[in-house]
Amino acid sequence: MNLKAASLFVSIMTIAAVTTSCGGGDGAAGPKVFSLPHVLNTEHPVHKALVRFAEEVEKRSNGAMIIKIQPGGTLGNEQELCDNVSNDADAFTKISSTILETKAELAKVYSLPYLFRDEEHMWKVLDGAIGTELLDVALDQNLKGICYFDAGFRSFYAKKPIHSPDDLKGMKIRVQKSVMMQKLVETLGASPQQIAFSELYTAIDTGVVQGAENNVPSYYTTKHYKIAPYYVFDEHVAIPDILLMSARRWNALTPDEQKIIMDSAQAAKEFQKELWKSESARQIEAMQAEGVTFIHLDSKEAFVEATRPIYDEFAGTPVMEYVERIRAVE
Ligand code: GCU
Repeated sequence: MNLKAASLFVSIMTIAAVTTSCGGGDGAAGPKVFSLPHVLNTEHPVHKALVRFAEEVEKRSNGAMIIKIQPGGTLGNEQELCDNVSNDADAFTKISSTILETKAELAKVYSLPYLFRDEEHMWKVLDGAIGTELLDVALDQNLKGICYFDAGFRSFYAKKPIHSPDDLKGMKIRVQKSVMMQKLVETLGASPQQIAFSELYTAIDTGVVQGAENNVPSYYTTKHYKIAPYYVFDEHVAIPDILLMSARRWNALTPDEQKIIMDSAQAAKEFQKELWKSESARQIEAMQAEGVTFIHLDSKEAFVEATRPIYDEFAGTPVMEYVERIRAVE
């Protein structure tokens, strides 16, 4: 078979598989195929965890369930990908949970500044009752949370060094499509610009923004460090990534298939927690070798203080109830 014929064969087989999974309901043999688009590139530890998830699903189902990962944002930005699961165009996606605030008010809790004391506290919350409840925060929008992935802490990076909120004053800083992140950046005196993740390199390069904020693996794998070589560990938010599935697609699975999805996600999550730590450390070293300056603050208090008013609007709301429960987790 020549290359063209081979690729045609693969396409036909894929369409056949998808058709089967979309279900004539005639019980015809063939794997169930589930799409999983996301915006990260293939070097990113969260992408690697998704690959592990897909491998586990395929192995545990003896090839009866196939997850088709489409990385790199080629199928849309995170808002679009979230909408596509919500309206059943895709079976799965992986997004930053801040995006869920467009679907459920309570999801704003994810993006509150300095909510978690540290990484250990964050995982205690996410792996416990609170995290489990919040996985389904947008269930009425057909979005079922399958698991979280570590997205560490987000910090600012720019073309010039940042040591305090004063240094951010007047700077244009890229934010995700999130009112919470917009507010956070505004509160610190900078001007927030909503830009899709995949368009950010060009936006920094051409001066549309002077900086952005993200975790170390995203800073590294996007190569933003080459054009914005100052990264300050102010760690203003820890917004987990979330694997979402269409609730209708989930409900159409057998209990055995549901168990395969959940067990595979669990395995991928545990794998990713370790990978996150080792990759972040390795990437910091690699960037330092390329001349990136990492700024460690003596105290984050100026950032904590400046962003505290963000909590005010939630007084007496369900978001605040969650904040209190989260703070009470030892
Ligand atoms: C992180 C996160 C992505 C998100 C990105 C962003 O990398 O894992 O899901 O898209 O931040 O800032 O847009």
